[in-house]
This record gives sequence, C-alpha cells and structure tokens, in this order.
Amino acid sequence: MTSIKDIRSQFLSFFEERDHFVVPSAPLVPQNDPTLLFVNAGMVPFKNIFTGAEKREYVRAASSQKCVRAGGKHNDLDNVGYTARHHTFFEMLGNFSFGDYFKEQAIESAWTLVHKEFGLPADKLTVTVYHTDDEAFDLWRKIAGLPEERIIRIATNDNYWAMGDTGPCGPCSEIFYDHGDHIPGGPPGSPDEDGDRFIEIWNLVFMQFDRAPGGKETPLPKPSIDTGMGLERIAAVLQGVHDNYDIDLFKKLISASVDLTGRPATGDDTPAHRVIADHLRSTSFLIADGVAPSNEGRGYVLRRIMRRAMRYAHGLGARDPLMCRLAPVLVEEMGGAFPELVRAENLIIETLRSEEEKFKSLLERGLKLLDEETSNLKDNAPLPGEAAFKLYDTYGFPLDLTQDALRRQGREVDVEGFDAAMRAQREAARAAWAGSGDAADESVWFDLRTEHGATEFLGYMHDTAEGVIQAIIRDGKPVANASAGDTVEIVVNQTPFYAESGGQIGDSGEITTEDGVHIVVNDTKKRVGALHGHIGKIERGVVKVGDVVTLSIDVARRNRIRSNHSVTHLVHAALREVLGDHVSQKGSLVADDRMRFDITNPKAISEDEIAEVERRVNEVIRQNTKVDTRIMSYDDAVESGAIALFGEKYEDDVRVLTMGVSLDGDNKPYSVELCGGTHVRNLGDIALFKIIGESAVSAGVRRIDAVTGEAARLYLENQAKLARTASDILKTSIDDLPQRVGALVSERKKLERELAEAKKQLALGGGNASGGDQIAEIAGIKFIGKVLDGVAAKDLRGLVDQAKKQLESGVAAFISVNDGKAALAVGVTDDLKDRLSAVDLVRAGASSIGGKGGGGRPDMAQAGGPDGANAAEAIKSIEQAIAG
Ligand code: ALA
Repeated sequence: MTSIKDIRSQFLSFFEERDHFVVPSAPLVPQNDPTLLFVNAGMVPFKNIFTGAEKREYVRAASSQKCVRAGGKHNDLDNVGYTARHHTFFEMLGNFSFGDYFKEQAIESAWTLVHKEFGLPADKLTVTVYHTDDEAFDLWRKIAGLPEERIIRIATNDNYWAMGDTGPCGPCSEIFYDHGDHIPGGPPGSPDEDGDRFIEIWNLVFMQFDRAPGGKETPLPKPSIDTGMGLERIAAVLQGVHDNYDIDLFKKLISASVDLTGRPATGDDTPAHRVIADHLRSTSFLIADGVAPSNEGRGYVLRRIMRRAMRYAHGLGARDPLMCRLAPVLVEEMGGAFPELVRAENLIIETLRSEEEKFKSLLERGLKLLDEETSNLKDNAPLPGEAAFKLYDTYGFPLDLTQDALRRQGREVDVEGFDAAMRAQREAARAAWAGSGDAADESVWFDLRTEHGATEFLGYMHDTAEGVIQAIIRDGKPVANASAGDTVEIVVNQTPFYAESGGQIGDSGEITTEDGVHIVVNDTKKRVGALHGHIGKIERGVVKVGDVVTLSIDVARRNRIRSNHSVTHLVHAALREVLGDHVSQKGSLVADDRMRFDITNPKAISEDEIAEVERRVNEVIRQNTKVDTRIMSYDDAVESGAIALFGEKYEDDVRVLTMGVSLDGDNKPYSVELCGGTHVRNLGDIALFKIIGESAVSAGVRRIDAVTGEAARLYLENQAKLARTASDILKTSIDDLPQRVGALVSERKKLERELAEAKKQLALGGGNASGGDQIAEIAGIKFIGKVLDGVAAKDLRGLVDQAKKQLESGVAAFISVNDGKAALAVGVTDDLKDRLSAVDLVRAGASSIGGKGGGGRPDMAQAGGPDGANAAEAIKSIEQAIAG
C-alpha cells in the first residue's frame, strides 16, 4: 500500500523533476491576505505572485499546503464526521505556473501523473471543463485520448474557481475518479452527480483574472496555472478505499481514539471518532501556527472546532481530557513532514488540556439543559432561540455545536430567535454602557465593537500585515472616507500594531496601499478594551472603509519596546530576590527609550541593592535563552507559579511568559509572569541593562528608572565622557579621580576656614590685634563701627561679640555687604544697657540700608536691607543715635 507520506513525496518529486521549485507549506494564518480567515487552498500563499504584486526567483512551484476550511467562504465544519470526504483540515497538493506554462502543459502533467505514475486506468477517469473552454476540451482529447463523453462541459460555478470574494480566479477543469458501479451516483453534470461514485480528485485552474471587491474581474498580467489535489482523497483512491477516513493516517488516529475511549468505531459511534480524528488535526495545526483559543476571530473558530470535538468525545463516554492524549499520536504521524508540529507539541498538549478541562463542567451542565429543553418539545419542533442563546451565553456552546448536538434527533434550532436574543443582549449592554456616564464619544467605539468585534492582534508574530479598514474616525465621528491632510483614527480587522495597554506604549508606523496611500501612524490606542485605533495623519491619497491596507509597524522602535518590556519581568524577579517577596509591582511604563518600574518597598533601595539587581538582570540577559510564551487558563497559570498582578483584569486565557534560568542552580525559570505585551525572542536581544534612577513616588512606593540596549550603552558612554572631562581638567587619571576630588574638597574647606578667619581679623582692625585706632568715642561711649566687604552675614554676631569683649564698655556696629545687600549687627555692653538699646541703634541704621525694622535684645540686635551701597550712611546714623 502506498502510504500518505509516499504519495506526498511522489507528487513533489514528480514536479521537482519538471523544474518546479518545491515550497514548504505556509502557515495556516494567511501572511498576505486579510480577507481570509485561514489558508484554504494551495494557491493562497502565492496570491500576490499571480496578481503580479510580488516576484520570486522561480516561475514554477509545487507544494503540499496545509488548509483549514472552517469559517469563511469554504466552511466544511458541520459536515465533518458524516461524510466520506469532508475535513476541517487537509493537505492540498498543487503545482503552479506563474505566467510560465498554461493549459497544455498543466493537462499533460496531470494526466502523466495520475495515469502513468499513479497508474490509474484511463477508463476510471472522467474530466470536466468550463462549458465555453473548447481549448481545454481539445487538449484532453489530444493528450489523454479520452472519449468525448468523458470530457464533460459544465456551465456552473463548479468549473469556475475563485479563491474568495476577491482575488485570482478562472475557469477550471476537474479530474474525477470512478469508484465503481457498486456505489450510487452519476458522472458530473448528471442529475445524480451528488452521489459518491464519481469523486473529484484534482482541480486544474486556469488562472486568468483578478476579482476586485464588487465582482469586477480584470485580466492577470499573464495566464497562470493553479492546481489542487486533496492528498487524503488521492490517498483513498491509491489505497483502494472509498472513504478518506479509511486511509492509513486516519486509521492510526481513529484506532488511538478507540483505544483511549474503549468504544469501537462502528455504527453510531463512527462519526464521533471521525470528528475527533479530523478536529485533532485542525486544532493541533492551528495551535502550532500561533492561533490560541479565544472569543474572537480565528481563536473563536479554533475554540468552536475544539468544543465540537469535545462534545463528541463526551458522547463516547470520555470523562477525562481526550484530545490532549491523542496529540502525540498525530505528532508521530505527521511531525516528519511538518516539523512545526514537533516544535509545538507541548503547547498543543497544554492548550488542548486546558480547554478540555475548562469546558468539561460547562459541557455536562449544558447538555443536561439541552436534554431538559428538548424533552418538553414536540417531535419536530425546533429548539427555541432563547434556549440556544442561553447555551451559548452561559455554557459556551457555539450555535453550530447546539445544532450539531440536535442533529441525531432531526431537530433544528430557531436561528432567528437565537439572533434576536443575541441582539437584545447587545442592546442591553449598549444601554448599560451609555448609562455609565462615560464620554458620549465612547459610544462610537462601543457601536464599532458591537458591529465588528475585537481587532485581531497579529503583532506577537508579525511586524507587517494586511488588514481591511472597518472604520475611519475623524473629529470623533465615523466617516466613509478621508484624504490627504486629515488626522484620523483607523480601525482594521487585524493589525500588527500594539495598542497601549499594560504599561506598554502603542506602536507607531505606517499604513499604505498599492495605490500610493500613505498614512503616518503616531500612536495606537485601545478603544473599549477591544479595538485598536491607529491614530495618524494621511500624508497621501484617499482611504475608504472596506479598503485593503498594509500595516507596518516601526520595527526598530518596537524592538526597543520589546527589550524594555522583557526587562521589566527580569527586574521584577531580581527585586524580589534582592529585597524580599514583599515586593510587588505598583505600575510600570514601557516606552521605546526607557522603562519605569514602581514597587512597594518601605525604604529607599540602597546603592548596593541596585548594583545587585543590575548584576543579576544582566547575568540572566547573558544566558540568552529563548523567551517562552504559552497560553493557559488563568487558574493553571497561577497554579504553575506565574506572577499575576493584583488588581489587573485577566481574560480566561492568559499568556504566560517564561524567561531565563534561576541563578541558584535549581534549574527553575528565572521569571514566570502573565503578560499580554510584546517581548524579545531571546534574552540576549536586550543586550544591556542599566538603572539610571531610584526615587520615591509616595509613602512605601519606590520607582526605578532604567534603560536597555543602545540607550544603556549611550548612557554609560556619557558617564565615561563626564569622568574623562573631569580627569582632564584635574590633570589626573580617571582611577585617581575620587581621591583627587576628595583632596580638593578638603583643601577647599580648609581654605574657606582660613579665609573667614582672615576676614574677621581684618574686620576687627586690619590684622592689628589691639585695633586701638579704630575705636572712637561718642558722648563718652566707646564705639567701633565698620563696613565689612565680603564677610558672611552669619559671622557678624560673632564679630560683634568679640568687639564687645575688646571694648569692655561700649558699642560695636558691623555691616557686611554681600551681592549689594547689607546685613547689620549692633552690640551694646551690659553696663550701658540702661542708657542705650541695641534694638534702637539697629533700627537707626536699618533705615539707611532700606531695611525695615530689625530686632533682637538690648545687648545684641540685627537687621538687613537691600541698599548695601548706603552702608557707610548707616554707620553714621548709628553714631548720631548714640550721640543722642
Ligand atoms: N485552488 C483550487 C482549489 O482549491 C485548485 O480547488
């Protein structure tokens, strides 16, 4: 038997020999098309090459592309399990020509492969062509020699393939395999074509047009070829089975599910095992490609698939998580061809387990409710919409899960009633919002959120992505379009731009289109907790709602933000180690040029503690380990020891960031924290960490300011420069700088002391100890009066006291002038206190220097005034006052 692995490699080698470049499968999340939920055909990753927007070094390619058809235009979810050929996940084998060969070679290659290489007999093969495509008809006659009755012209869209509502498209030609007359069904185009006898195995699309929104088709630059052959289908044919689920791969998966549940895959249990096997593939591959279960967008489709599988597992009696135990079997089977599955194995197992555990009790209660509701209904009566809505709202049952659960009873759901209940709930939420007193402006955002759901953030994995404009806000109001010069806020369905939250600032960058629109985005804000508002100015062109745009963040800036964010986690861990477990985060700012981190700590963080934090953080940075991100349920995350920030609101599912290895040699991670921010890939990307400030924010809260990478290098460079300049001035080496500066400071202190002393001496008589000639006599009273330039005001009192001692009996008055201002002190010896008061004398002097009042005691008084130039006058006034 030819295994599925052999068929995949046989196909790829066949085309490699025919000069096709073998391209590995692209991720399931489209890299180049915002209108698509998932890659749903082999040609999707090549879309831009078909349209001419992108050039590659090859013009022929072949691939085995992972595809998911669940949600969006091609949605097979509901049928899976009940038919022989529907899958949510499958591989599409394809060969492609980008303007190189066309119909003839495509038909020739296809025929050679199926007929000669795979050995399928010509009489088992039938083909179709688009009804007007005579050329294809003739080629099939010529190349394959098929009789005319087995080249069937089809006039419907079945033979006109389009990727989606927009994108490359063209007429196609399909190859059918006849499984034999023991199976009911007729050839394509016949009344019983829907039977299972004639199965399409390969579709050759003659790509000729690009379909624009609205349906207008323009010719592609060059006619091209896109083909798609379902690997599982051709495997069924080549393995001689009729049913895809009987091929080698599915047999292995189903037998594992039979082993674990103890229920054979027969009778009524068959669909359940098929659903489990199929959904195991789609969920595992989606998780490996970065999709996490959530309540929005792609994450919600993933959750729907998971929950559907879980319902079937429950139906098989599985009460413990089943899917996570099957994942290793899938990795074993498909990991060889898809190494991403091996890399993500733990993530897949954990994500499945967490979702299974979380949904378990809801599922049981929901199914019970469903039983109760239906037991009261008449045989054919549909389930009321209200009940379906309650299952959705309270028990997390997506509508399709409820519909599926009722399928066996042949019962439908009142979908209109469901929609009405949903609308009513939204209205109520809307009214509650409007009543909350928030700014009226916010209601614009609330409406947008209700209409479009949350913006899908792609920025964990991508720096650039395409998005479809959902709204343009100008001056607080939604507008249909905007043009150059306008300042706008733009909302798209998906974006790589991080919107400010959790302390991390919003991204900046640009939004562009192929038509030359250029919008500079300065900031990104999160609106009503869900929409990313890209705030910027339209520099060129006109944009309108519905336009497809390319969103590119400023990568260099984001990389700096990443470093500053990752380092906050390391600092947090280091602070707890150095200061103690009482440390908790009180707030943070993660910007591109710095980070700020506030913590609870009763006292200032000392120099030594700061140095120790820096040392540890830098040591962990140098470990250069990969930063590991996982999605877990909140409870699991906290249980595993992740630090959650008190008072923060977390979703049910949280991102858990693990960084570095403990410095204690116990092999534990250095930091485990819940975080929705963006982070470096490897810790070495941070390069360098430096704390540049420690300060108080409020009682018991300290703040650390720090820089990383190039900013840290520049900071250190500047510090070194300052040291160099200082050492140059002091003509010493940097090493000797502290000692030299210390010596200078003490020398200066000594000189200051000496200078003050000298000035005092000068004041008291020009260095002449007796100072006799300075002493005057006024009305029989000895008097020393002097203006002292440069003596400090604080020294006046001491000088006056000294003079009083010298006089034994008399009056001393000194005025110092500094910076034009005067300070005055007057002293009267005790024996004269009854005749003269220092207070009166100081007042007499103060008026000359523009001072008001003055004060003190009868033996010592002081005053000051702005007019230092009149100091001599003041002395005269005092003399007069003594003279009476
Ligand atoms: N793109 C074509 C298909 O998906 C081949 O059928």
